[in-house]
Amino acid sequence: MDILTETKHLQNRLDDLRNSQMSIGLVPTMGYLHDGHLSLIRKARSENDAVVTTIFVNPLQFAETEDLDTYPTDIEKDTFLASEAGTDLLFTPTNEEMFCDDVLTTVSVQEISTVLEGASRPTHFSGVATIVAKLFNIVGVCSAYFGEKDWQQIQVIKRMAQDLSYRVEIKRCPIIREKDGLAMSSRNVYLTKEQRKQASHIPESLLKAHEKIIEGERQSSVIKGIISERLDRSSAIDIDYVELVNGENLSITDQIDEETRVLVAVRIGAARLIDNMNALEGLNL
Ligand code: PAF
Repeated sequence: MDILTETKHLQNRLDDLRNSQMSIGLVPTMGYLHDGHLSLIRKARSENDAVVTTIFVNPLQFAETEDLDTYPTDIEKDTFLASEAGTDLLFTPTNEEMFCDDVLTTVSVQEISTVLEGASRPTHFSGVATIVAKLFNIVGVCSAYFGEKDWQQIQVIKRMAQDLSYRVEIKRCPIIREKDGLAMSSRNVYLTKEQRKQASHIPESLLKAHEKIIEGERQSSVIKGIISERLDRSSAIDIDYVELVNGENLSITDQIDEETRVLVAVRIGAARLIDNMNALEGLNL
């Protein structure tokens, strides 16, 4: 695996690969890699001739009140893990490399960026769309791999790629979970031991909801009630939202169908955690 920090060096390498007719898989990350990220790299490895993994803690997607300064990093471990999982080129640009000056040009995807996560974090998706657009421009034609934990992020990126005609195929990969069902996230490291225990209420609440759906319940309000009730049992959990939406356009759904996605966001101590499932399929445990 080669480590590159400069855009033009990465692009030269990618030009060479493309000249040899090689297909490219791109895995954008903010580092502090866990099994969720590694599953994306492995998937990219299995479907492409060459894999580019990027590590960049993108300041544009953090609000001033958020955890940019404390976001966990471990570049040595990441380098080892990225290589083990099958990365060929690891791109780790500095802030200066990515933004040589003030950022005057941004990308925002209307409507679907303003609900759910976007309601709590109004500048977040414009930050994500801008950096991902930049990575798509740098890397060019490729398949790009994103985890379903950030369901709304995938919808925003898919829409951006479609609207701006990127020649990038967006691939979504299932959530990877801890033994007790908690979705893997770099931010889980913020949890104390006790908060970590309480966090298992999140997948439990989704499992309970799915049981009810299997029994035939189709009213979103009932399912929302079940999840909220379960989460409220823990005084450590502060619910941000529990919502049932159409998985693609993210509009609120009253009656559950095969397109319905159940999304949850909570705060536990210093961590803001999200999870989701297809209402009819349930969790992939
Ligand atoms: O999902 C993430 O880690 C980030 O939002 C992404 C896509 C790498 C953009 O910074």
